[in-house]
Amino acid sequence: MSVRTLKDLLAEGVSGRGVLVRSDFNVPLDGGEITDPGRILASVPTLSQLVDAGAKVIVTAHLGRPKGEPDPALSLAPVAARLSQELGRNVQLAADVVGSDALARAEGLTDGDVLLLENIRFDPRETAKDDAERAKLARDLVELVGDDGAFVSDGFGVVHRKQASVYDVAELLPAYAGDLVATEVDVLKRITSEVEHPYAVVLGGSKVSDKLAVIEALAPKVDTLVIGGGMAFTFIKAQGSPVGDSLLQEDMIDTCRDLLDRFGDVIHLPHDIVVADKFAADAETSIAFTRDGFTEGMGLDIGPGTVERFSAVLGGAKTVFWNGPMGVFEFEKFSTGTRGVAEAIAAATQDGAFSVVGGGDSAAAVRSFGLPDSAFSHISTGGGASLEYLEGKELPGLAVLETEG
Ligand code: 3PG
Repeated sequence: MSVRTLKDLLAEGVSGRGVLVRSDFNVPLDGGEITDPGRILASVPTLSQLVDAGAKVIVTAHLGRPKGEPDPALSLAPVAARLSQELGRNVQLAADVVGSDALARAEGLTDGDVLLLENIRFDPRETAKDDAERAKLARDLVELVGDDGAFVSDGFGVVHRKQASVYDVAELLPAYAGDLVATEVDVLKRITSEVEHPYAVVLGGSKVSDKLAVIEALAPKVDTLVIGGGMAFTFIKAQGSPVGDSLLQEDMIDTCRDLLDRFGDVIHLPHDIVVADKFAADAETSIAFTRDGFTEGMGLDIGPGTVERFSAVLGGAKTVFWNGPMGVFEFEKFSTGTRGVAEAIAAATQDGAFSVVGGGDSAAAVRSFGLPDSAFSHISTGGGASLEYLEGKELPGLAVLETEG
């Protein structure tokens, strides 16, 4: 089995042809402003090569989780504006997904033009469970590029979704992996099958349940599994310490205890915590040791002693994968743990480690600390997609690209 790439498509020739590209423009927005354009920037290499080769480029993407109908707050308008800047050419935005405006604009494209369709999830068929419904939307997308069109899958962050613009359309058009998808897969291969040890994995974020499968898959393979963020409190509780009003998944306590029994030799938990009296940027704080726990307040960051220990462990690693913040880094007061881990991984990278930062929150965190992307070997655009790859699951958006031969 092999996967055709953008290079193959360019070699076949795209001048004057319609090329549908699935990108992942699910970027964080604050009052309509894009706060981390990472995914837009990551889409530029593939799009600009197609533009330069004279393709009529039609881009489809989602933003957020609209309920299958237009939602002005989730319009791709801010993305179209930013993408125009990055590509140095006007990116038209269709007023609809595959409706009359999209069709008229698609017909009017000349070589090298770029048209962005409105948020694909405004159409309920995109995420439909019913194969036939998704196939109908896929056929409408194909109509926009015409019968000699091609499909480039470049939205790595969404390849774990069996959705019309990710999966079904690839069954109808000649399909190719874009440069972003190809790079992301190469990086993930490197941290699954070709790993250099010591291998450290750092997991954070709020829910243990989201990370269970990846812990199961990675714990037997790593030398160190560092756990911080909200998810750490269920582990701390499983060890018998009270955690006040911190995030807790009661129904996961037994599971965490079992993971500690089996993988306690590699798992590192915080030994101190920054406890806040309320969930607010100006909360009063104190430090609690996890062996004693605390009965009042909520843990919003890992403590200074933990930052030091985690940094020491990460300092010796040759391979690092990090997904999920160590605390509520959006509040300056609780950003020290996440910043400390980011800096430790950057330092390890400087010393020759291969480091991968995955997940929107971790990527946004490192950028908000002013660390350049080049401080890490790779900042992945995939959150759930990277995790599912590391769990060993088959990702529909990748599997569908495989062809015989
Ligand atoms: C992401 O943000 O991880 C991707 O864009 C996928 O989004 P989804 O979880 O809403 O499918």
